Amino acid sequence: MTILPSVFYFGTPVALLSTLGPDGTANITPISSAWALGDMYVLGLGVGNQGTQNVLHTEELVINLADAALASSIERIAPTTGATDIPSAKQGRYRHASDKWRLGGLTPVPSIHVAPPRVAECPVQLEARLVKVVPLGDGNEAVAAHVRIIACHVHDGLAVPGTNHIDLDRWQPLYYTFRHYFAQGERVGVSFKAEQ
Ligand SMILES: Cc1cc2nc3c(=O)[nH]c(=O)nc-3n(C[C@H](O)[C@H](O)[C@H](O)COP(=O)(O)O)c2cc1C
Repeated sequence: MTILPSVFYFGTPVALLSTLGPDGTANITPISSAWALGDMYVLGLGVGNQGTQNVLHTEELVINLADAALASSIERIAPTTGATDIPSAKQGRYRHASDKWRLGGLTPVPSIHVAPPRVAECPVQLEARLVKVVPLGDGNEAVAAHVRIIACHVHDGLAVPGTNHIDLDRWQPLYYTFRHYFAQGERVGVSFKAEQ
């Protein structure tokens, strides 16, 4: 049968973008429209988000990848925006939060190459720089931000000792699937491209 879901969020990892606002305030924007190819990430960003405006202005950000344990923390900051003027599309459903770090119980730690801080609680933190912005559709609502990863930080114990590999038995990414949060399930196979 043919159906028309209201969204096509079939399941993507949750990332917390940390960005710096015009007054130097560090903001956190949860997103799930994010995918990687090589060292590039493409982020689908609503233009009304404070985080989007910060990225467009400063061209720097950190993509903090959340694990399943952070679902409730993320949901605490989910109905908020760092924008002081709440965009009309969000009015009644969102409120302004000047300090999402405190609200979510999240801790800023300095980055090495970019000004926005990393989110300490996220097991993977990717420092990145904006490369290109492409309108999504007419660009009035959202853009696709192309960003390049310039550093990858991981929690102690997440990398296999002595390698650049993530320990896949320890990495438990948080997925956003049709507006529900899921942890990753069982491994069901391995690609011929996997490095041993
Ligand atoms: C799990 C989750 C996934 C989200 N995914 C996206 C996304 O991919 N792109 C986007 O622009 N907003 C996304 N949002 C909505 C933004 O987080 C929301 O608009 C927020 O108010 C933005 O905060 P800011 O205005 O402080 O940047 C998502 C929210 C949650 C909780």
